[in-house]
Amino acid sequence: MPLNQTQKIIKAHLVHGDMAPGAPIALRIDQTLTQDATGTMAYLQFEAMGVDRVRTDLSVSYVDHNTLQMGFRNADDHRFLRTVAARHGIVFSAPGNGICHQLHLENFGRPGATLVGSDSHTPTAGGIGALAMGAGGLSVALSMAGEPYTITMPKVVNVRLEGRLTGWAAAKDVILHLLGLLTVKGGVGRVFEYTGPGVATLSVPERATITNMGAELGATTSIFPSDESTRAFLAAMGREADWQPLAADAGAVYDEEVVIDLSQLEPLVATPHMPDRVVTVASLAGLKVDQVAIGSCTNSSYADLKSVAQVVAGRRVDSTTDCMISPGSKQVLRMLATEGLLEPLLDAGIRMLECTCGPCIGMGGSPVSGGVSVRTFNRNFEGRSGTKDAGVYLASPLTAAMVALHGGFTDPATWGEAPAVPELPADVPSIRHLFVFPPEDGSQVEVQRGPNIVALQTFEGLPDRLDAEVVIRLGDDITTDHIMPAGAEITALRSNVPAISRHVFGRVDADFVKRAEAAANGVIVAGENYGQGSSREHAALAPRHLGIRAVIAKSLARIHRANLVNFGILPLILVDKGDYERLEQGGNVTIPVADIIAGGECAVALADGGSVRVRNDLTVDELEIIRAGGLLNYVRNARTR
Ligand code: F3S
Repeated sequence: MPLNQTQKIIKAHLVHGDMAPGAPIALRIDQTLTQDATGTMAYLQFEAMGVDRVRTDLSVSYVDHNTLQMGFRNADDHRFLRTVAARHGIVFSAPGNGICHQLHLENFGRPGATLVGSDSHTPTAGGIGALAMGAGGLSVALSMAGEPYTITMPKVVNVRLEGRLTGWAAAKDVILHLLGLLTVKGGVGRVFEYTGPGVATLSVPERATITNMGAELGATTSIFPSDESTRAFLAAMGREADWQPLAADAGAVYDEEVVIDLSQLEPLVATPHMPDRVVTVASLAGLKVDQVAIGSCTNSSYADLKSVAQVVAGRRVDSTTDCMISPGSKQVLRMLATEGLLEPLLDAGIRMLECTCGPCIGMGGSPVSGGVSVRTFNRNFEGRSGTKDAGVYLASPLTAAMVALHGGFTDPATWGEAPAVPELPADVPSIRHLFVFPPEDGSQVEVQRGPNIVALQTFEGLPDRLDAEVVIRLGDDITTDHIMPAGAEITALRSNVPAISRHVFGRVDADFVKRAEAAANGVIVAGENYGQGSSREHAALAPRHLGIRAVIAKSLARIHRANLVNFGILPLILVDKGDYERLEQGGNVTIPVADIIAGGECAVALADGGSVRVRNDLTVDELEIIRAGGLLNYVRNARTR
C-alpha cells in the first residue's frame, strides 16, 4: 500500500501499536533536544531513572531562554546543564550560540529521524524532513533513556502547495494563511504534511518557518519532503552525508486535504492576542507601531535577516519606532558580518541583540505601556511580551522591516518592488566547534549543582492499604494554576521541588502545606474537572512531595490525570457524585489499594464506619506505575529486573 511521508517515518520507528488514526502508537526516538527553561527538570528526571548514558543517537541541551536574568540562578542552571550533559553523553550548547530550533536545523536535524524536544516549537525540524514533536520534560527524559515515545496515531493532512510566492508575500504568510483558515485548534491530533509543486520553490529555512508555527495550529507536528533543496541546505551546512530523499509514495492516501496557491498570498498579520486572528497588512494601513522585534525560532535565519538588510539598506527606521534583531544563531550572525550585512542594519538604527529567544519570552525588549509591537515571532498572547497592555502583531521579516521604516502599517501596494529572496552564501561558516561534545566515558564527570538544583527524591510505592487524611476539599474547575501557581519568582524554583512545593495551593489555602506535611499520607478531594489548564508537571510532582497519595474527584482533566499517574498519585472518581459531601476536610479514609483492579470500582472506608464507592479509568500498566510510586520508579525497576 502506498504510504505518505508521515506514515513512512512512523512505520520505520514503530515499536508497538496499530497505525489507525486515534490508536496509541509507541515510537523509537532517534534524537532529543531540550532548552534551559525545561531542560533542568528533564535532566533531573533522567538522573532519577538511574540510566548512565543516553540511548538516543543524539541528545542536545541548548541554553537559549534565560540567558540574561539577574542573580545566580541562571548561571547555576547553565553549569548544571553543562556538567550533566558531559556526565550522560549529551551535546551542550552554551548561552549565546543561538536558539535551539535554528541551531538544531543547521547542525543536527536529519531527514527521516524522529525527534522529541521539551519545547513546543520542536516541529521546526519538520522543515528538514524530520518527524519532530514537542513534549513534556518527563517524556524527553524517557526518550533519552531509550523508552519508546507514545502518541495517538495522528490524522495526516495533505497541504498541497501550488504556484510560488510573489512580491512581498513570504513563508510566514503561508502559515498565517493556514492559521486564519483553520484556527489555533484546527491542527489537534493531526500532522500537516506539505506536498505539491510549490514545495520545491521554498528553501529549508522557509519550510522551517511554516513547520515552526504549525505548533500554533495545535498540530502534533508538520513535515516537508526531503528533496534537492534539503540536500543543498545540508551540503551548505557541511552535512550532506545526513541527507536522504524522502517523500510520500505516489497514490498515498491522506485523511484530509488543504490546497494553497502560493501565488495568491499577500502579506498577512496576526492581530492581538491570538495567532489565528489573521488579517491582511493592507487592512491595517495607518496603524502606528512603537516597536518592531525581528528574530525568534520562527524567523531568524540568514535569509530572513538578509531580507531585512535589503529592505532597510541606505534608509533609517522611523525615529519613533524601536527596532531590534536577535539572530537565530552565531552562524547567522557570522554570515551577516562576513557578507557586509551588519552595516546596513546598524546604520538604519536597528539594535542587535544576543542570539537567543530574548524578547519572544519577555527577556528584554518589552514594548512600551499600551504600545503596539510588530514581531516576527510565533505567539502574541496577552502579556507574553512582558507588557500586559501592549498589543503584539505577528508578521514576516519583510513586513516587519517595512513597518519599521514607516513607523507603522502601510499598504504593501505602495512598497514598490520586493527584494529577491536571499540564498545562502557560497561559503557557510561552521560553528560546530562551539558545541561541547561529551567525553566517551562521562563516569568521572562531577555534576555541579547550585543551591537551586535539587536532585529528585525517590518516592515510595503505594502500600496495599492506604490510611490517609483528606487534607483539602476543593470545588469544581480547579486549574493547575490553583494547584501550582506560576509567576517568575515561583517558576524560578522549578528545579528545586522542596522549595516550589511550599507554594502548592498558596493562593487558595495558605495552610495547605502545613496540613499536608502534618498528615502522614494525604488525599485531595475535588469537584468536577480537577486539574484543568496547562500540562504543568509540577502540579502533580509538588503535591506528591508533600505526601499526597490520591485524588478523589467528581471528574479529572485528561492531562493532569496523566501527570498524577506519572508521579504515583492515585486518581479516583466518585461513582455517586453526592458522596462528595461525605468526604470532609480533616477526615480519615482507607483505600484498599491491593483490591483495586484497572477500570474497576472499590469502596473507600470512612472514619465513621461508612464508605464511598470510587472507580478508576486506569489501564493495567498505569496501575502498575502508580503502585511502583510513579513512572521513574517503574522504568528503573523494569531496568533492574
Ligand atoms: Fe524561544 Fe520563542 Fe522559540 S521562547 S524557542 S524563540 S517560541
